[in-house]
Amino acid sequence: VTATTAQTVDASTLDSPLFRSPNRLKLAAFHMNCTRGCTPTHAEGSIEKLDWAQQVRIAQAAERAGIEAIIPIARWRGYPGTSNFNFEQFEVFPWAAGLAALTEKIVVFATAHVPLIHPVRAAKEVVTVDHISNGRFGLNVVAGWNAGELSMFGLTQREHDERYQVATEWADFVKRLWTSDEEFDFHGTYFQAERAISEPKPIQRPRPPLMSAGSSPAGCAFAAAHADVCFALAQDLDGLKTVAADIKNRAAALGREVAVWTSAGLVCGDTEADAKRQYDYFIHEKGDWDCAAQQVEMALGGDLQSITFDMSKAMQERILAFQSANTIIGTPEHIVSQLDGLASAGIDGVAAMWLDYESGIETFREEILPIAIDAGLRVPT
Ligand SMILES: Cc1cc2nc3c(=O)[nH]c(=O)nc-3n(C[C@H](O)[C@H](O)[C@H](O)COP(=O)(O)O)c2cc1C
Repeated sequence: VTATTAQTVDASTLDSPLFRSPNRLKLAAFHMNCTRGCTPTHAEGSIEKLDWAQQVRIAQAAERAGIEAIIPIARWRGYPGTSNFNFEQFEVFPWAAGLAALTEKIVVFATAHVPLIHPVRAAKEVVTVDHISNGRFGLNVVAGWNAGELSMFGLTQREHDERYQVATEWADFVKRLWTSDEEFDFHGTYFQAERAISEPKPIQRPRPPLMSAGSSPAGCAFAAAHADVCFALAQDLDGLKTVAADIKNRAAALGREVAVWTSAGLVCGDTEADAKRQYDYFIHEKGDWDCAAQQVEMALGGDLQSITFDMSKAMQERILAFQSANTIIGTPEHIVSQLDGLASAGIDGVAAMWLDYESGIETFREEILPIAIDAGLRVPT
């Protein structure tokens, strides 16, 4: 048997709690396993030091709020700046295993960096956490963009699209390990194996859900062929609508179905003015603008000549606000109306982030969820 094409398993046929959820818009809590989460800031309430007990409280609070999943970020080094942004990170597989053992309903994700984890090892780690969670595990597969992380492993970054060729072969191999009852040889370009086999099989059949977050054409092509959930990024709602439709069409052309999610930072206040005040506090008063400036520089490859001071400041502000994700600032009613807009644009789920995860999830449960239920976005927990 040789490496061939993707298996065409429709997301809708996966027996996973993620797809059994009746909610019109699915939700995950995202990005809390690193210091400062997704907000480079010195603000009170953001995660200054990692604390396992807090991770457990966040996962259990998300579960109580009926949130479908919890998704970490696979990160090996932090960012420059003054706030220690992502300077500490919990490794995602033991993180997921620990949380799976301490929760009952929520789907727990881990994230595999394709260049850093061999398919045979990944297949078995995933199956182990799938068993610990009794079928509540999911895997985000990322191609690895951060050369500074790869060099810690003695690896050199590959050219962009080739990363997704490696990811394609990686996913083919891992899926085969999860489904083949017979030993098989695997002769790929990047992976070679004799008499490969992996037992036991996952609890979720035929496998746990796979997520992908690449947004380039190569990233979307990979997601269409292999992922069950794909993240869409765009500047505005119209852009998201287009990207979501594109990913779904690409998948349909392969006889597959892919759910499209996006990520969003939520800033909720009793009044619009209160929410704006919270935003001003963690961005303008306490934001780590040094970190944001260096991230802009990294993104532009150090060539800042072509952009003006104002453009650079605007990019920095977007980075401070949940790393350029959608940012929804306002009252519970406003937040629900924005989430409703995302659902109407073809978005199936939102990976949500907060400055303060614990109080943010509590506010979600107490104040936002009832309105989301009335709006038909969510069902009572
Ligand atoms: C929701 C989300 C989660 C991501 N998680 C990770 C991660 O855990 N580790 C990582 O190195 N990259 C992560 N990324 C980055 C993506 O894998 C990818 O490198 C990035 O979106 C650029 O995609 P492209 O190369 O296809 O343009 C994430 C991106 C998104 C949108």
